[in-house]
Amino acid sequence: MKETMARKALMICILVWLSGFIVIHAYGENAKMGSFTKTQSLYCDKMKRIQELKASLLRRDLLSVSSISISPSPSYNPKMSSKSRIYRVTDYGADPSGQSDSTDAFLKAISDAFQAPSDRVLMQGIIDLGGAEVFLEGGSYMISQPLQLPSTGGGNLLIHGGSLQASDDFPADRYLIELSTSSANEEKQEKHNSMEEKISSSTYSYEYITLKDLLLDSKYRGGGISVIDSLRTTIDNCYITHFTTNGVLVKGGHETYIRNSFLGQHITAGGDPGERNFSGTAISLMGNDNAVTDVVIFSAATGILVSGQANIISGVHCYNKATGFGGIGIHLQLPGLTQTRIVNSYLDYTGIVAEDPVQLHVSNSFFLGDAFVLFKSIKGVVRGVNIVDNMFSGSGNGVDVVQLDQSNGPFTDIDQVVIDRNDVNGMTLKATVARGLKQGNGSSWDIDFNQILLFPNLIKNVLYTLSTSSSFPNHALRNVSGNHVVVESDVPVTASVYVMVDQSPISTG
Ligand SMILES: *[C@@H]1O[C@H](CO)[C@@H](O)[C@H](O)[C@H]1NC(C)=O
Ligand SMILES: *[C@@H]1O[C@H](CO)[C@@H](O)[C@H](O)[C@H]1NC(C)=O
Ligand SMILES: *[C@@H]1O[C@H](CO)[C@@H](O)[C@H](O)[C@H]1NC(C)=O
Repeated sequence: MKETMARKALMICILVWLSGFIVIHAYGENAKMGSFTKTQSLYCDKMKRIQELKASLLRRDLLSVSSISISPSPSYNPKMSSKSRIYRVTDYGADPSGQSDSTDAFLKAISDAFQAPSDRVLMQGIIDLGGAEVFLEGGSYMISQPLQLPSTGGGNLLIHGGSLQASDDFPADRYLIELSTSSANEEKQEKHNSMEEKISSSTYSYEYITLKDLLLDSKYRGGGISVIDSLRTTIDNCYITHFTTNGVLVKGGHETYIRNSFLGQHITAGGDPGERNFSGTAISLMGNDNAVTDVVIFSAATGILVSGQANIISGVHCYNKATGFGGIGIHLQLPGLTQTRIVNSYLDYTGIVAEDPVQLHVSNSFFLGDAFVLFKSIKGVVRGVNIVDNMFSGSGNGVDVVQLDQSNGPFTDIDQVVIDRNDVNGMTLKATVARGLKQGNGSSWDIDFNQILLFPNLIKNVLYTLSTSSSFPNHALRNVSGNHVVVESDVPVTASVYVMVDQSPISTG
């Protein structure tokens, strides 16, 4: 309430001032500030003193209202606009050599950056911090407690330009930087409905927070960054290492963009002798509408764990832990409603696991070192899945490019699954669309598609052509079963029989 009243008072000041400005503008020097009553004037003076920085906002509003182009020279009240909103952590006593604990200095700098410069808000209830920066000045700082952003929330803030490392007694269940209002980053799994979540805006605490140019070293004590119930967060050009839990955890909220970053539990360039023991998850997306783009994950048991909808993964290179050692590149753990796009990515000795995928798109990606896509049956559902236009390269040991894990029961609900146009070198092609040719003398042509079709005993659609120059026999498609197609003619002929089969249903409408 108090906030609202202060805002109204400020608005009155703006309007009064503005009306004065327009009068001056219209009548020149002779105009008197007659519309100011004494009490209004006094009240406005008081407001000015209380919220000095709001004046700079007022000026900006005024300029835009009066259509004067904004010039960088602050001719109006330079005293008020000169206060920097760049918070340098060494000004607060942080130790850039990393020898002593800088937690308190950081928390104070962050707390100052969260002092609202204006009444402006972003999403309802999220105060606009106006682009304040917490600047690490190229130092490497040790912290013994998480840098948890103030629970009052806020947005439009940048933290950038240096390194953070956990102390030996850093709490192992926390993150170096926490966009989180609760102290416990409890792993309570919440399944959000995307639309419901978007409608209820009151749950968000942070918006448009940018973490940029940071090296985060968890020193095997917890995780790197947690982003809880936040909107429009950017993690850009960060190097996140030595996490034991997650490099980055995103939970609730939406539109966290993780880009141009490098994550690895151990610092290695591949072929590490300790790879078998890599643990942790580089990125866990427990929320909707996030993007991971142009990211390298070089060490972790799981590269990206996705348990929220409508996320996109693009340009990601996973060589976090080989499949043979139990690693997973990208784990889609949202059976029944996946809604994930994986494009332009590079799965390097580690693959994709999709549990009961419903709406999944994988394209233009490169799978190296026998990496493959695994559909894991939970309730036997696989629908709306496209795996197209990818390259698979392996060692020649006959590893299938797409595989089924039916240990929980077979896939029974299969619809609109298109696995086609992938190219394969040194692995076994699997697809849902296949073409076959049989040539010979006789009256029966049996073509076996079991080598290539992904799903057993499932052909929903057949096209065939019987080509012969010897005569005009009658012929027909006689039997489709067990992924075999049998074409027969009424008399023996020398013929070529071309067959195309599809595991997707043909429309009967
Ligand atoms: C992996 O972990 C096991 C069990 O903790 C340990 O015995 C082994 O030495 C580790 N291997 C490597 C290569 O670090
Ligand atoms: C098919 O049978 C005909 C007649 O018996 C024979 O002349 C021809 O060589 C056979 N062709 C093949 C490909 O076996
Ligand atoms: C089709 O082929 C299968 C397998 O050979 C066989 O069991 C089935 O009886 C055949 N169906 C017909 C209609 O011939």
